[in-house]
Amino acid sequence: MCGIVGYIGKRKAYPILIKGLHRLEYRGYDSAGVALINEQGQLNIYKAKGKVAELEAFASDKDTTGCIGIAHTRWATHGEPNTVNAHPHYSESERLAIIHNGIIENYAVLKAGLKEQGYTFKSDTDTEVLVQLVEYTQVNRHVDLKTAVQLALQQVIGAYAIAILDKTHPDTLIAARKGSPLVVGIGEDEYFLASDATPIVEYTDQVIYIEDEEVVVLSTNGQGTKDKDVEITTINNVTKTPEIKRLELSLSQLEKGGYPHFMLKEIFEQPRTLTDSMRGRVNVRQDNIALSGFIDNKDRFLNAKRIIITACGTSWHAGLIAMYAIEEFAQIPVEVEYSSEFRYRKPVINKDDVVIAISQSGETADTLAAIQLAKEKGAFIFSICNVVGASIPRVSDSGCYTHVGPEIGVASTKAFTAQVMALTMLALCIGKEKGTISQEQYLSVVRELGQIPAKIERVLGQDKLISDFAKIFSYAQNFIYLGRGYNFPVALEGALKLKEISYIHAEGYPAAEMKHGPIALISQEMPVVVVAPHCGTYEKIVSNIQEIKARKGRVIAVVTEGDTLVSKIADYCIEVPETVECLTPLLTVIPLQLLAYHIAVVKGCDVDQPRNLAKSVTVE
Ligand code: G6P
Repeated sequence: MCGIVGYIGKRKAYPILIKGLHRLEYRGYDSAGVALINEQGQLNIYKAKGKVAELEAFASDKDTTGCIGIAHTRWATHGEPNTVNAHPHYSESERLAIIHNGIIENYAVLKAGLKEQGYTFKSDTDTEVLVQLVEYTQVNRHVDLKTAVQLALQQVIGAYAIAILDKTHPDTLIAARKGSPLVVGIGEDEYFLASDATPIVEYTDQVIYIEDEEVVVLSTNGQGTKDKDVEITTINNVTKTPEIKRLELSLSQLEKGGYPHFMLKEIFEQPRTLTDSMRGRVNVRQDNIALSGFIDNKDRFLNAKRIIITACGTSWHAGLIAMYAIEEFAQIPVEVEYSSEFRYRKPVINKDDVVIAISQSGETADTLAAIQLAKEKGAFIFSICNVVGASIPRVSDSGCYTHVGPEIGVASTKAFTAQVMALTMLALCIGKEKGTISQEQYLSVVRELGQIPAKIERVLGQDKLISDFAKIFSYAQNFIYLGRGYNFPVALEGALKLKEISYIHAEGYPAAEMKHGPIALISQEMPVVVVAPHCGTYEKIVSNIQEIKARKGRVIAVVTEGDTLVSKIADYCIEVPETVECLTPLLTVIPLQLLAYHIAVVKGCDVDQPRNLAKSVTVE
């Protein structure tokens, strides 16, 4: 993970880099650092353990001048999160400085070789090996820095997005990527570099997405034209033509808009984000859904013998819900796989399989690798992503963007509901085309889709009630979440939200499975959240709640408005409006998001940046 930022131009680099780091802090926040070349040609590096604010405090009385610099916010992989392991790292002579996002898998071999040549290492990181290797290559092969970077990267196994400064060339910034994202922003005689476009958006809307195994040289020596000042080659020195794209991202999307946390803002945005996800796709007046990624590739879906869904974390939960919808409406067998398991377990993948990859960030390393594996076997890859232009949509055959805008809170909320929405639309499209869904059912779901934003608004109206429940239950050490059918994955997602941000242990379970083990945990101290809307297996889940109450468990139930059965036996109830079964997750997950949020706030946890987590997981 980690976030990287770079700047070269006429302005003071430091404020731009620090602001950029704050924007990228969602990617990791164990430590942060900055490297700047000042007017005297000195290369200054400042680092601090903890968040970017610690770095700012540390650097407040230091020389932060210079119009060229790089900066980094870290999520530790190799070496504990401390100042020594924080980036940037110097090379042996302290002429070069590097920042890196990714993992150099063969770093131990490379390090041993460099040690034999007399190189010394200060940190435990794989990154320091890389900068030493670049310097070693440059000195021993008598080549320029770009060539040294190319040659060094040819020896590297693993993933990287790097940026390198050379104090003897204060007019040049070099960067490269493989497997980790990297975007270049093009301003007037100035260039920006970042892991994603969020640090760049307020300066320019002209960007270049760097591709795998490309090296980019940004210079401001005034000799070149705009094009010449951005030179892209592969690590094998093949020249590439920079492709400038227009960024569709606004600054206001990156701010909290009056909410105390991004997570709360994002929960409350869901009526709008789901409207945005449906825009141009769901035509309620004509009772129709049009998904271009499906329309252009109809035959692949209609001929599919099987659909494999692959994802991680919250996106995997959205995939589980999709399994219910696709099997119900399209009658195609569906398997839902954790990307990290799928990619390593020698799965059987056929040419007529469709693989659906789900990823908010579009950068998750395991999901990307799962796609690559499926591609090699000839499967058709359809991705559901949020970040436009990210790696996963770029390597997919087709797909559907969720269009919810940047999700900054590390715990995913609005991206999840939009994924469920997109996958439900896809299931309906396939079912309609195959004739496996009745016209009546199709129409009822399409019409109901249009009602969902207003119904979510009603659920959000219960925020105060849910925050009161949170105060009652913030003492708990453990929680169980139960659900059945479409709402079993919602139980998993509710438990994950609580774990992620409040550090309370929580288990999600299919309600009927409770009697095969977790029922032994039930006691007065154990809050049990039961997702029990009035549909499908409602009567069965009522019995499951009776079983919990008989053992003195305390039940918080999510029920349909006007419920009479569950509300009599549960201790606390949160109501959601009635809807068709396949859309209930879009409503029932909202109280669970709010419950986790408020419990974390009561406990004083860092809601937007929970410990040990990162939003975009670009390591295996
Ligand atoms: C991280 C995030 C989760 C997310 C998961 C998958 O663990 O903290 O919120 O669900 O990665 O991310 P993706 O971007 O692929 O959906």
